[in-house]
Amino acid sequence: MNSKNFYITSPIYYVNDVPHIGHAYTSVACDTMARFKRLSGQNVYFLTGTDEHGQKVEKSALSRDKNPQEFCDEVSEKFRELAKTLQLSNDDFIRTTQERHKISAQKFWEILEKNGAIYKGTYEGWYAVRDEAFYGEDELINGKAPTGAEVEWHKEESYFFKLSAFQEKLLTLYEAVPDFIQPKSRYNEVVSFVKSGLKDLSISRTSFSWGVKVPGSEKHVMYVWLDALTNYLSALGFPDENAKLYQDFWVNGSDSPLHIVGKDIVRFHAVYWPAFLMAANLNIPHTVYAHGWWTNEGQKISKSVGNVIAPINELEWLESFGISREVAIDYFRYFLLREVPFGNDGDYSRTSFVARVNSELANNIGNLAQRSLSMIFKNSEGKIVDFKTYEEAAPLLKSAYLLQENVKNKMANFAFDQAINEIISHASKCNEWLNLRAPWSLKKENKIEEMNLVLSVIAENLRVIAIALQPFCINLAPKILDILQIKNDERTIDFIDAKHSLKPEHKINEPKAIFPRLENKNS
Ligand code: MSP
Repeated sequence: MNSKNFYITSPIYYVNDVPHIGHAYTSVACDTMARFKRLSGQNVYFLTGTDEHGQKVEKSALSRDKNPQEFCDEVSEKFRELAKTLQLSNDDFIRTTQERHKISAQKFWEILEKNGAIYKGTYEGWYAVRDEAFYGEDELINGKAPTGAEVEWHKEESYFFKLSAFQEKLLTLYEAVPDFIQPKSRYNEVVSFVKSGLKDLSISRTSFSWGVKVPGSEKHVMYVWLDALTNYLSALGFPDENAKLYQDFWVNGSDSPLHIVGKDIVRFHAVYWPAFLMAANLNIPHTVYAHGWWTNEGQKISKSVGNVIAPINELEWLESFGISREVAIDYFRYFLLREVPFGNDGDYSRTSFVARVNSELANNIGNLAQRSLSMIFKNSEGKIVDFKTYEEAAPLLKSAYLLQENVKNKMANFAFDQAINEIISHASKCNEWLNLRAPWSLKKENKIEEMNLVLSVIAENLRVIAIALQPFCINLAPKILDILQIKNDERTIDFIDAKHSLKPEHKINEPKAIFPRLENKNS
């Protein structure tokens, strides 16, 4: 598909509990990709929201003596606040208790039914409320779900989705589109799960009522995953298949829909969801990308251990170094994507956090910007000189302009950490180049012309670095571009080239320090 429309979604988060680092991580990854795509000229629609039905949420509400809707309203608001706090650029925030979603989920059910994909029977088997998932006897490990969740035996009347009928179709899809599930390790896992045989899926429950009612059979509520997955359609105006958003982003999207999810929920997105969509004769997503999980200082994160990382606490910890909220946000987002290759598990450690931010942002890019731009401002009337014919700079500039392709390639592979690495490595090269040419010494030796050339070359490199850094440092990269007086419409990725370089006589603003070090002021 050749359109510019790109649809990206985060999972919708359960409202049984308050937001933690896992939620922040998935959301930040989606937001960074959304921003990168926008800067690459695509028309992006980025959706996030909350998953509010099911037994788990109902239980949480009741255990707090709350009415489920009131409880959902409260917790959903916390996720909306998190989105604001992390400065997510989402275009919509969907809640599965909204009318627009209930209508869409019911219509989706009716289509599945009309197409003969649903029948009534009795479900007898294991169910883990924590995972909102059914498990076969053969999947249990020491009487628990493979995820460690407690299971309960269920026997109830239920509607079933004919998942078994989609086994071959799914395998054909995986074979024809190997990038449908990424990374490769998840692809292999899903393929072997499907090859091992698919059973029909129970898609309704009668033993509790907190869910979307099954059309025409009101004592049943829909299985929460069938309800939840449909959110991706509801937000685009489904069931109105002529809705503009639906047409633009579900039917005519380019390399999308892209669902970014955690590895624990890949099965729902890469097996059930495409099967539902095939049964409904609707487009299937382009990619499901599953990221890894964080541990906290080497330990598995769990509520019972009490080591859950709350994003807001981390921002407050960062602010205790005397930095502003907007700097804290950039550093937090940066660390999450930089520390661990996307797709792998990783460890969250405050010591590594400080070391990484200080060495890569403060000491590297920050230092490069501070020392070169303040010299231009003080000694060169804030003006750029014509460096086009300065041969000494040719290799460095060539490598700067390569960033456009290199960063694009890394992002196409979801390698956020490597995309950042391209930028940081280039900044290191610039620092070395600058140290070698030492404009401060040139100044003392009164070699003003050469000093100006060296400084202008670095300013041009900073322009490129800051453009590429925008999706990762959403507040601070634009500040470099502001100092350099780069117009808003000249900040897209395609401006990383020689044609758009800083021109002679271009003036910069007075520089300010942009990337403060994380230093304990008391020590
Ligand atoms: N409601 C479902 C998703 C429905 S999408 C149609 C759900 N919600 S969740 O709130 O439990 O999880 C949301 C995301 O947080 C998942 O992608 C999950 O992988 C992620 N994480 C939860 N704990 C995590 C870590 N410790 N580390 C990284 N991500 C983790 O699942």
